Parts: sequence; structure tokens; C-alpha cells
Amino acid sequence: MSHGELLIIDGIRFQVYDETLPILKIQGLHKRYNEGKSNEVHALRGIDLEVKRGDMMAIMGPSGCGKTTLLNMIGHLDHNSGGEIIINNIDTNQLSDDEMTAFRRDNIGFIFQLFNLFSFLTAVENVETPLLLKGLNSAVAREQAKMLLRDLGMGDRLYHDPLELSGGQQQRVAVARALINEPAIILGDEPTGDLDSTTSAEVMTMFRRINQINNQTFVLVTHNRWIAEKCDYIVHMIDGKISSVEYGPFTEE
Ligand SMILES: Nc1ncnc2c1ncn2[C@@H]1O[C@H](COP(=O)(O)OP(=O)(O)O)[C@@H](O)[C@H]1O
Ligand SMILES: [Mg+2]
Repeated sequence: MSHGELLIIDGIRFQVYDETLPILKIQGLHKRYNEGKSNEVHALRGIDLEVKRGDMMAIMGPSGCGKTTLLNMIGHLDHNSGGEIIINNIDTNQLSDDEMTAFRRDNIGFIFQLFNLFSFLTAVENVETPLLLKGLNSAVAREQAKMLLRDLGMGDRLYHDPLELSGGQQQRVAVARALINEPAIILGDEPTGDLDSTTSAEVMTMFRRINQINNQTFVLVTHNRWIAEKCDYIVHMIDGKISSVEYGPFTEE
């Protein structure tokens, strides 16, 4: 049995992982916007990074230093301009666009600052959408979405529209939607940016619990030192490069 192999037992898919391999490895990553034009921006200038499975990593740095760009490169929302990104031991440069779409759907969850929920869908409909897109039976998808929302303390808000929910509750729905496919990596760009400090703390506690139970990896961009210190280590960026890495634990808990 080899790393990355797919096992199917009783119709349930299992991915075989070698826990000792890094979940994410980046080598010599560059990103240029408007490449070759007079308005070219060299946003990432040679990033090297290794993230172990189950790590919680924060990215900090001044506005414009390339944090969002790096997250978008890891999530493959945009093409890079050079370098390698290896996720789950797969060199993503080798994937076709179609393969990349499926790979992203199965391996990566996104949590944005502005929640990005579909306002015309209820909480449970928002969460089941990724499963339906994957072709899952709608009754099974509904049941899984309900279970996850209940697990995140949203059992009494299943049929509310996003606008009927508080910011923290909306973020829980967004988190559930990012997690429903059980991605190995969860990417968050300022995931607590719109939340008050109490709700931010709740969301971070929730992330840590998910991280510990499922060994899922979190990569979180934040401006907030307190949030960053809830992670295992902090990667500091300046001007498209990693300037330093600070290792925790930062707090005694
Ligand atoms: N779509 C784009 N087109 C051109 N330049 C961009 C684009 N997105 C970001 N940039 C530039 O790339 C640099 C890094 O941006 P970004 O990754 O958004 O920084 P951060 O998230 O750290 O604030 C900035 O100089 C920004 O102006
Ligand atoms: Mg940004």
C-alpha cells in the first residue's frame, strides 16, 4: 500500500497517507502579476516552506507583503510564475486543469474573512453544496451537513438564511462548508477579521479542536498577534519573502 493510494471499503473512500511526509512543501515559489508588462508586480520572490500534517501555521506581515497571494498559490486559485508546490506528495505543477479542480475540491478548504456564504441558501444548504457538487446523493449530503453543523454548535440554526445569523454564526457555517469534504489543508485569509474578540477566540478554539481531532492542517493569515499565537508557529513575511519563523508554544494552556 503506498502513499496517496485510494482504498475503497464498503463504498467508503479512504486515502492512504504516510504521516511522516510533509502535507505541504513549497520550493522557490514566485508570483508575478501582469508579467512582462510595465505594471508588473513581483509579489512572491522565492518562498520555501514545509508544513507537517496537523500543523497550525500563522502568516503575518505588513499589508501588501504577499500573504493573500501565497494563500491563493497554495489553494491554486491562481497560477504561479515559477517554483514547486507539493501537496500530499503530489507535485501540483503536473496536474491538468481538470485534475487540479478535483484535487483542490478533495484536499483544500477555504475560509475567507467575509464568509462568502450564498445568501439565497440556508445554513445547511450552504454546507451541503460541496458534497452535491461532488455528486453525492442529496439525502446523504443533507445528513452529513446537519451532523457537522450540529457538531459546530449550529444545530438550532440549520434552516436560517445567512443574514439571519450573527457574524460568528455565519463564520461557523463557512467553517462547516470548508470542512465538509474533510480537506487535509484548511486555508484562512483573516478568518476572524470581521469578528469581535470573544467570537474570534471561539473560532480559534474551534479550529484547534478540529485540528486535534482530525489532524487537519491550518494555514491562517492574520494581522492579529493574539490569533497568531494560538497557532504552533508564525511565519513572518516582508516584501514577498519569508523573513523569519517563530516557534511556539506561545501560551500556556
Ligand atoms: N490581481 C493583482 N494584480 C496585480 N497586483 C496584485 C494583484 N493582487 C495583489 N497584487 C499586488 O501584489 C502584492 C501582494 O499583495 P497581497 O498578496 O494581496 O498582499 P497582502 O495579502 O499581504 O496584503 C501587492 O503589491 C499587491 O498590490
Ligand atoms: Mg491580504
